[in-house]
Amino acid sequence: MADATLITGPLLRFAGDPFATSWENAVLIDTDGAVLVEAGFIRAVGSAGALATAHPDVTRVHFGPDHLICPGFVDAHVHYPQTAIIASWGKRLIDWLNTYTFPEEMRLSDPDYAKAIASRYLDLVLTHGTTTVASYCTIEPHSVDALFDAAAGRNMRIVAGKTCMDRNAPDGLRDTAQSAYDDSKALIDRWHGTGRAHYAITPRFTPTSTPDQLAALGALWAERPDCLMQTHLSEQIDEISWVRELHPQARDYLDTYEAHGLLGERGLYGHAIHLEPREIDRLAETGAALVHCPTSNTFIGSGLFDMTGLTARGIPVGLATDTGGGSSFSMLRTMAAAYEIGQLRGTPLHAAQLMWLATAGSARSLHLGDQIGTLAQGFEADICVLNLASTPAIAQRVDQASGFWEAVFATIMMGDDRAVAGVWVAGERQPAASATAI
Ligand code: GUN
Ligand code: ZN
Repeated sequence: MADATLITGPLLRFAGDPFATSWENAVLIDTDGAVLVEAGFIRAVGSAGALATAHPDVTRVHFGPDHLICPGFVDAHVHYPQTAIIASWGKRLIDWLNTYTFPEEMRLSDPDYAKAIASRYLDLVLTHGTTTVASYCTIEPHSVDALFDAAAGRNMRIVAGKTCMDRNAPDGLRDTAQSAYDDSKALIDRWHGTGRAHYAITPRFTPTSTPDQLAALGALWAERPDCLMQTHLSEQIDEISWVRELHPQARDYLDTYEAHGLLGERGLYGHAIHLEPREIDRLAETGAALVHCPTSNTFIGSGLFDMTGLTARGIPVGLATDTGGGSSFSMLRTMAAAYEIGQLRGTPLHAAQLMWLATAGSARSLHLGDQIGTLAQGFEADICVLNLASTPAIAQRVDQASGFWEAVFATIMMGDDRAVAGVWVAGERQPAASATAI
């Protein structure tokens, strides 16, 4: 097998959905595991001894017992244009958008700045072990080109779309119903299915789109049902009141999307914290996915997502940083925040559920669950290896761990990019990640 690599060490495997069945049955750790990578794909997963015997001539990369070979993290909701304003102080959603976000998104009107931010963003996420993101761009088509170009240069599987806004946004950050339709359609033709690129039709949220624009984008989605559609839903109470004023005839927030053709199985609804029972019923009926953004929900002060209740209804849920409303690029930090929100609701998540959410769960929400997010034969070789003793503080905790999951949990709660020991994208090891193979 020319150019094949056998990565050996403790390995994370999935046998099911840990929200639909017990986590012990769904998420497994092979302490002596191996994954065989060739030509961008996973050719085999099994025990290190058996695969090494079967493939004696391949390149070997071994990670010791304090490591975990995982799928690359999948971040199901981000705003790459907000990279440079992450961690901006003291505002809640609408003020935060007006004060920090819109001025920064305006700066990306400069195509060179957009390219620089797209590259900076993807380099940052790769060093954090994230190999796929679903990103909002700005209203400028060149901001979409910048991200897809940067992703193609790194061979990353990326979902992205032009953010559409034709009201309640400043001059220079508004399109129209017609230009949003035309530009989005041209971008779909240019990018959707090109290499590893996927297009998501992207109305920012109800307050910044006229009913005409929502309808135009609903019509575009009906023409291109193979695309995803991403937007925001019920993030803050003030926002929901505003939506009610703008759409007095709507039954609820979700109805403002449904009435314009923007509710469907390939729809992704970020945040979804303050849902009405009818909205939950409709989401469950349509198969639409929600995206939980825990560091954002605490940072902007939005509220506590009901992971246990919503997954119990069978609603697919992805996990996301929501950079830069979220306060981190790290999916480890994001899992920690999801755990903390679960604690505040009295329903703590197990480390196995958190790891699944950050990989296979997010991939499923993006309808990419048969390509990425799982280490299994035939999947694409997007891989992240965690060092479970990456700092003295974590290492001393791991010394006292009574099992592997206790060690994984310490890295979830306390880890950051220093815990990322290796990243492979489509089978290529990334130079940016520190090489700590032992
Ligand atoms: N709602 C509409 N736009 C945004 C955004 O950029 N970030 C967050 N967190 N919520 C939004
Ligand atoms: Zn968002």
